[in-house]
Amino acid sequence: MNLKLLVSTAILSRIFAIFGLLNHGRATHLWGVAAAGTFKVSDSADLPAHDFFKKGNEYPIQLRHANVSFEDDACKGVRSGSLKFSHQSDDSPLDLLMNTGEGNGFWNIKTFISFTWARIRGEKGFKSYCDKYPEACQVARGSVRRAPDSFSQLRYYSKIPFHFHTQDGKILLVKFKLGPYEKVPDSGLVTGDDYINVWQQQRLPEETRDMDYLRKEFLSRISEKEIKYRLSMQLHTPISGESEEIYNAAQAWDENTHPWIELGVATFSKSLSTTQAELLQFQVNNMPDSISVIPAKSMSDYNSIGYARSKVYKYAQNWRLKFYKYRHRVGPIASTKSD
Ligand code: HEM
Repeated sequence: MNLKLLVSTAILSRIFAIFGLLNHGRATHLWGVAAAGTFKVSDSADLPAHDFFKKGNEYPIQLRHANVSFEDDACKGVRSGSLKFSHQSDDSPLDLLMNTGEGNGFWNIKTFISFTWARIRGEKGFKSYCDKYPEACQVARGSVRRAPDSFSQLRYYSKIPFHFHTQDGKILLVKFKLGPYEKVPDSGLVTGDDYINVWQQQRLPEETRDMDYLRKEFLSRISEKEIKYRLSMQLHTPISGESEEIYNAAQAWDENTHPWIELGVATFSKSLSTTQAELLQFQVNNMPDSISVIPAKSMSDYNSIGYARSKVYKYAQNWRLKFYKYRHRVGPIASTKSD
């Protein structure tokens, strides 16, 4: 293993643990809402024979939606949808952590460090990251959603590829997407100056909804009726000598050459309490043997994102849970009261 990648991952683990302590919760994706339900694997002929996604299999499942950066749901920001294929708070055969936007605003651990530093510096920092990496900025413009109507209407992407081991011994690359069950339009897409000035993320002056309107909308929706999503994947067969660009998380795979294949339907029927949602621990390397994180060689390797995540989450979560115990309280404290 490359020493620089090892050391920077160890440092990032500690920095993110500290962010979590300062936030009284997660280091990132702090404000969210969660639900439990079941997942049924599709019996479509398009699915290659696979040990985990076996046609017709059913799994217990949990979902957590969150704003990546802001407490205020009306801000312009990236949103998330994370799946845990179990009803436990930690153990599970598979976790899938996904954000809105097909591409990622950073593509290796080097750019992730610049990105994190830029985000800490706020609007100014984000703008200078955009000036330095205009192509990343373009990806960010496509990933943020301004005050969407419902978490259940958005599309969430794993962005980085993983290894996908088929029953006939092939190792393919896979990317995941979670989207609404019904054909409903995406929500909160930004246009005009709001699109160009991606770094201006605060709520608009004319916005009147509560800070937590989006989380409340989800809770109210699920209390009335179950919420359904479709989980899909794109597959890529590695070709010897092909460009490393296929691993670049900033670049979505072309849907014409890599069509989305439906893996199954997730149905959520009950929301989790705030405590249950806060105790959830999603880990990128909670995976069965038939799916795996791609090894990385260096800090500039596209696969270094997956490697770092496979270490950082566990470390930061351990501290997060210790802190909850120490404080006798789980989760962040809301800055304003809502009904
Ligand atoms: C493709 C890139 C990434 C995606 C799509 C992604 C996605 C996510 C999602 C969806 C969550 C929220 C999980 C939840 O609801 O509990 C999360 C949390 C988190 N992410 Fe990432 N992430 C990415 C990269 C990274 C990197 C590179 C790091 C650090 C090296 C990182 C560190 C964290 C931490 C510390 C948490 C909070 C964990 C916890 O306390 O439970 N992420 N991420």
